[in-house]
Amino acid sequence: MNAVRCEGVVQIYKAQDVEVVALRDVDLVVDEGETVALLGPSGAGKTTLLWLLAGLLRPSAGRVRVAGADLAALDQRGLDRLRATQLGVLLQNPSRNLLPYLDAGQNVAFAQRGARRDRRRARELLDRVGLAARTVAGRMSGGEQQRLAMAVALANRPRLLLADEPTSQLDAANAQAVIELIRQAAREEGTTAVVVTHDVAVSEALGRTVTIRDGRVGAEGLRGEEFVVVGREGTVQIPPEYHHLLPPGSRARIEPLEDGVAVRRAEP
Ligand SMILES: Nc1ncnc2c1ncn2[C@@H]1O[C@H](COP(=O)(O)OP(=O)(O)O)[C@@H](O)[C@H]1O
Ligand SMILES: [Mg+2]
Repeated sequence: MNAVRCEGVVQIYKAQDVEVVALRDVDLVVDEGETVALLGPSGAGKTTLLWLLAGLLRPSAGRVRVAGADLAALDQRGLDRLRATQLGVLLQNPSRNLLPYLDAGQNVAFAQRGARRDRRRARELLDRVGLAARTVAGRMSGGEQQRLAMAVALANRPRLLLADEPTSQLDAANAQAVIELIRQAAREEGTTAVVVTHDVAVSEALGRTVTIRDGRVGAEGLRGEEFVVVGREGTVQIPPEYHHLLPPGSRARIEPLEDGVAVRRAEP
């Protein structure tokens, strides 16, 4: 079964009288147990995609299936239940994942409310991210909050972990601890992970990369090789490192080959 299946997902934000198309026709399948790094420049739509997968946002069009459920078929209670039992979510702003007046141990315990309370697991997670159980979340630094947010996201042994830039405020050693937690969850619990990141250490530790550019899946990396992804209408994004050969806006000729096509710049 697929842990994630997006079909033709479109997300349009409406602010006053301007519309922002954040995602256009995104197709994405992630298998159970896969670990995926979601890459792409700022504003590409990564956070939007993560919010859609977490059921925190309903898509303007298209279908989103997560952990066996069609999110459009769930009401608010169904979504809450799915999040409490199947998903571990770490949002981009670390403090938004935490209850600030509770201590670290209480935050992890709260995350376990949808399932069996597991004190050993809670202790182990806090230990692995190097935090004391009695420190109050609201008094922690940004980096400490980010480490606690990862412990909270994994507290329930989720089927699917969704994390948005989980190491953005961490030094290399703390980032490594977080990476190890993600890999351990995948190995030992079969947790599928979709992790938005700019951190090479994170993307290299995960099994596959998916690059979003301008609201579309532009490229995928698998076992060290990078592929462009042909989109719904046959769209292909020329990777930025080749923009000097074929600049955006230039005219090109498509030449058929036996096993694909060549895209050649037409002389002006
Ligand atoms: N709540 C919102 N209202 C209007 N526009 C938004 C909102 N959230 C994001 N956007 C816009 O949608 C696009 C994608 O944003 P986002 O998903 O945050 O990208 P990323 O996480 O890749 O940086 C950007 O152009 C951003 O300005
Ligand atoms: Mg973002």
